[in-house]
Amino acid sequence: MKIIPGISTQVLATRIAAELGCKVSVCTFKKFPDGELYTRIVDDIKDEEVTIVQSIRTDSDLICLLQLIDAVEEAGKTKVVIPYLGYARQDKKFKLGEAISIRAIARCLSVADLDTIYVVNVHNKAVLKYFDVDTTELDASPLIGDYVTKKEIAHPVIIGPDEGAMGLAKAVAAPYGFDYDVLAKKRISGEEVEIKPKELNVEGKEVVIVDDIISTGGTISEAASLLKAQRTNDIYVACVHGVFAQNAISRMLNAGVKELIATDTIESEFSKVSVAKMVAEALKR
Ligand code: R5P
Repeated sequence: MKIIPGISTQVLATRIAAELGCKVSVCTFKKFPDGELYTRIVDDIKDEEVTIVQSIRTDSDLICLLQLIDAVEEAGKTKVVIPYLGYARQDKKFKLGEAISIRAIARCLSVADLDTIYVVNVHNKAVLKYFDVDTTELDASPLIGDYVTKKEIAHPVIIGPDEGAMGLAKAVAAPYGFDYDVLAKKRISGEEVEIKPKELNVEGKEVVIVDDIISTGGTISEAASLLKAQRTNDIYVACVHGVFAQNAISRMLNAGVKELIATDTIESEFSKVSVAKMVAEALKR
């Protein structure tokens, strides 16, 4: 098998290849003067089994993925790993006339002759129904739990920033026996609403806030401020997909976050947890 590294996922693609003991194909990416992307797989991949690895964080990443899929037409079996499947939050029409963005992407991928697509912690599992190709979701939450364990934080409490993050908080915490909870609104009076952990008292505790995606950092900054008001000790933040748009990093650090932890589905200095081994295991099956 040869691994084809997309423009956004060079490090992870190389790590996956190392796990599998296979070759990374040489690719060229450049921009034309008008901004259009040019993509070429330099290695001969005729009749080879290939796996393209490319996250979709930006529009240009999607173009690159489509180009790579087109460029492997002479290959044999083709698998695609999309570690971060962007656009998955626009999974329905919230307003009349809106595009269901993830469905549009799924439709593009469904016309290609692909063997399997792998994604990591897609925002809403239900979107997989839009894919005609066999699509498998891999779960990185135990890897985050493992990282937290190795940091030897004393009795960490895993907190999801909202009710929707309960599943992730549980998946990170349960295998390691950590306590977990989510922030929830409690009405105190007609005028007053309190947001705090639903069940647990976090006073004096080390807290790890977990979310699937951090984009602007707004959700996490607010959660961190609310938790500080509960007099927690240090606050760590861990996510699967560190999109970190605009001033997300400074926002979260200013809100009192001690450390940011993300996986390498999107490459950044905070990619402390690698999904490479998990992806490689899936590709071997
Ligand atoms: C929302 O449902 C997601 O799970 C994340 O909480 C959200 O995407 C985070 O976005 P932001 O960092 O912009 O607050």
